[in-house]
Amino acid sequence: MSTTSTSDATGSTPLVLPGGTWTLGGREVTRFGYGAMQLAGAWVMGPPADHDGALAVLRAVVGAGITHIDTSDAYGPHITNDLIREALHPYPGPLLVATKVGANRDARGGWPTARRPEDLRRQVQENLQALGVDVLDLVNIRMGDANGPQVGSIAEAFETLAQLQQDGLVRHLGVSNVTAGQVAEARAIAPVVCVQNMYNLAVRHDDDLIDDLARDGIAYVPFFPLGGFTPLQSDALSAVAQRRSATPMAVALSWLLQRSPNVLLIPGTKSVKHLRENITGAATMLSEQDLADLDTIGR
Ligand SMILES: NC(=O)c1ccc[n+]([C@@H]2O[C@H](COP(=O)([O-])OP(=O)(O)OC[C@H]3O[C@@H](n4cnc5c(N)ncnc54)[C@H](OP(=O)(O)O)[C@@H]3O)[C@@H](O)[C@H]2O)c1
Repeated sequence: MSTTSTSDATGSTPLVLPGGTWTLGGREVTRFGYGAMQLAGAWVMGPPADHDGALAVLRAVVGAGITHIDTSDAYGPHITNDLIREALHPYPGPLLVATKVGANRDARGGWPTARRPEDLRRQVQENLQALGVDVLDLVNIRMGDANGPQVGSIAEAFETLAQLQQDGLVRHLGVSNVTAGQVAEARAIAPVVCVQNMYNLAVRHDDDLIDDLARDGIAYVPFFPLGGFTPLQSDALSAVAQRRSATPMAVALSWLLQRSPNVLLIPGTKSVKHLRENITGAATMLSEQDLADLDTIGR
């Protein structure tokens, strides 16, 4: 597995980012990225319990050489983007910040959909303002609902984003929580540089889609790579982890990096310690036997 050398997140021990790089919308980004959702308060609502700790994680992310951060103005809402701006603005040149539109938050922490053209235009403006930029690097339209992708056309929503791209407010477009058919529908409207769906050792619905996207040079960005709010647990995973003297999280991440070169990681954490563990752990080399054993989990 290729690696990207970096300076240590704390300046003490050298860290190496595993997985090398991927060209995302013409920009080279590290395949080991960072998902910022967990920086908001509990259940992604309100401010973090440790504001300075959240800023420290974001600075450690960039300090480690990571050049791909995933966010959304719905996280908090508005909290995560504000933290990113406070910690990192003006952004280092190589850093790509990807955001998402398509949902609001309600007072109970729900994620009501908001995908009418006027909703999407407002959310793009809110992201621009919160992140403090004139153009958003990458915007994903989040479709479906909490149960996953739902059938139906995404044309109106994606055409709206394509128009915002034409207007110069967005550089690149992606789709999230979508079916393979919806990816194809979006690609017929405008170029799609990434697909962000739920995928991990235990959730493998997108195996064929990942391979198809790899052939077409499109990134696949799995959300909940570690299981999200329900950490991955399995006897097969524990056994492989023990064999490799690694943690189950390390094995779950290294498996994703080895799954396909177009898979970009965005594991979330609000802990610098966990960030560092994940960077080092994701370099774990898995054997053919390990991969075969891990394959039994998702079947
Ligand atoms: N498109 C979408 O619809 C969608 C939906 C959900 C998420 N996302 C994106 O995907 C990203 C990743 O998802 P996620 O953060 O929810 O889930 P995740 O990466 O699967 O897991 C994050 C959880 O794992 C824990 N964790 C991370 N490293 C650990 C370690 N080394 N040891 C122990 N625990 C560890 C974190 O706790 P600690 O904070 O304590 O480390 C956190 O609770 C999000 O940040 C977001 O950007 C997108």
